[in-house]
Amino acid sequence: MKVTLAIQRFNPETDSEPHVQNYQVEVEPTHRVLDALMDITQNQDGTLGYRRSCAHGVCGSDAMRINGREKLACKTLFKDLEIEEGGTLEIEPLRHLDVQKDLMVDQSTFFKKFRSVKPYFVPKAAEPEHGEFIQSPEERALFDEATKCINCAACYSACPVLDKNPNFVGPQAIVAAARFVNDSRDQGLEARLDALDQKDGVWPCESHFECTRVCPRDIKITKLINLTKRQIKKYRDARGEQTAEERAQ
Ligand code: SF4
Ligand code: FES
Repeated sequence: MKVTLAIQRFNPETDSEPHVQNYQVEVEPTHRVLDALMDITQNQDGTLGYRRSCAHGVCGSDAMRINGREKLACKTLFKDLEIEEGGTLEIEPLRHLDVQKDLMVDQSTFFKKFRSVKPYFVPKAAEPEHGEFIQSPEERALFDEATKCINCAACYSACPVLDKNPNFVGPQAIVAAARFVNDSRDQGLEARLDALDQKDGVWPCESHFECTRVCPRDIKITKLINLTKRQIKKYRDARGEQTAEERAQ
């Protein structure tokens, strides 16, 4: 079927504001949106900018807004979209990050926040008895879901809290922290509190669930954020301290 892709275009070096450019493409219901974008750059307009790498939902490069919803272009089939012969699909870059060109956003703020939570293993100081940390399947299950994140930033774009507070650390950074905070072998919560237990850390989350709705890896992000809030509260309570949220009241 023939459809129109209405793509938001913007080159900060030459344009004063974004504009929409329409491209007609011939697609099969089983084609992915990424196939249509590649068709455009190969056969119609090589200046269209977008990011992609694996083309199989693994690298997280090609998250974008498709008909107003954050999706991976490589995992979105035309048959799963509400579009018929002659219809139009609106494609925009992710929100809350500056556009570098067309559908490519500057990811530096996103990754700066990711790094701020120290998203790496901080092992317990004591050497384990048998030279390795033993972890039960139940303990492993506590952080299993958080390991599935592919850093696509779909949740960061969908988050309504970032509309009003651009300094909020954002859902993905908290998922990254939850990966380690809930790991029985890790003792890095204290080192992560500078990023998490402050006014722009975990506390601005209002549980809108938009992040959870758009995550292409089906991570229950809001649940992980609330679990992390609880871990911080437990840590502060055990020391007779207040959380940043309590101090602000
Ligand atoms: S939590 Fe989900 S939506 Fe957010 S960056 Fe990770 S994979 Fe993408
Ligand atoms: S191109 Fe890698 S996730 Fe889509």
